[in-house]
Amino acid sequence: MKKILISLLVVLLLLVSCSKKEAEESKPLLVLRYGDNQPEYYPTTRAARYFSQIVEEKSGGRIEIEVYGDGKLGSENEVFRMLEYGGVDFMRLSIGTLSAFYPEFEILQLPYLFSSSDHMWRVLDGEVGEYFLSLLNGDSIGLSWFDAGARSIYTRDQIETLSDLKGKIIRTQENDQMEAIFSLFGAETIQIPYGSVYSELMKRTIDGAENNFPSYIYTGHSDVAKFVFLDEHMRLPEIMIMSRKAMEEISAIDSDLIYIIYEAAMEASLYERQLWKEEEEKAKRDAIKNSCIITYPTEEELAKWKEAVSPIYDELSPEAAEMVERIRLI
Ligand code: GCU
Repeated sequence: MKKILISLLVVLLLLVSCSKKEAEESKPLLVLRYGDNQPEYYPTTRAARYFSQIVEEKSGGRIEIEVYGDGKLGSENEVFRMLEYGGVDFMRLSIGTLSAFYPEFEILQLPYLFSSSDHMWRVLDGEVGEYFLSLLNGDSIGLSWFDAGARSIYTRDQIETLSDLKGKIIRTQENDQMEAIFSLFGAETIQIPYGSVYSELMKRTIDGAENNFPSYIYTGHSDVAKFVFLDEHMRLPEIMIMSRKAMEEISAIDSDLIYIIYEAAMEASLYERQLWKEEEEKAKRDAIKNSCIITYPTEEELAKWKEAVSPIYDELSPEAAEMVERIRLI
């Protein structure tokens, strides 16, 4: 009897130690954080979760990436600062935010730079895109590009011509070049974080803002500023980045894991682009359903808008002007 009891105890102990080992083995070696200021169902946030899933699978569960959408980690600007000192590991951000920290990126936010979405992707998928990604190689590392469509102006009162914008208070992203562009259009400008635009529209401290269709709909700005002037003044790409600290921690586990990160970022980019096309169309339809009025400027009117911002191009450094020329020829 005593022998049987002892054997049972041994079996029990073995079982307990095995399951403990299994639990330890299935626990990730590294848990990292990814921030996005867009809501959970927005294309970029969905692509972030896709990225996280691929990394988890391909790393055999060694790396887990927790995705925080909806600006839960802070505003885009704040999260970028945190990422630069390693407080956040990954994020997706607009070039409009990044260029305030890295002015080399201002070239990509020049008004009417890209003639179409295809043109922008030919540029970003080629050597120029590679070059800009490689500029981020310090505290943050550039991984892949995301689509964010074209941005247009939306206001509480209808805008039909350039002169209608004169004196209107328009929110811009938090960067000076962006403000300069809207001043050239004749607007009064104010830099406000994305998350505060809705309340400022409600309080009437601003007359309007500018963004792509999905942002216009997802934020509810379309409930307050009902008039869209489809000037498509810029196609502003977005970028997925990683902190240097995260890269070092990942490499310390296994240097091959870095390739998995790059691959997953590229797959997430392709996935996001596909989602983007669907969402952009859907958001436009939703705007119309929501009785927003879209004004399509004539070629003649648009020429005036382009002319208004031409001083921005005249003031470029020779190197920047050369890059613009290169982009235009692609
Ligand atoms: C887009 C972009 C955001 C950005 C916002 C803005 O919606 O996806 O990342 O913060 O523009 O205008 O600030």
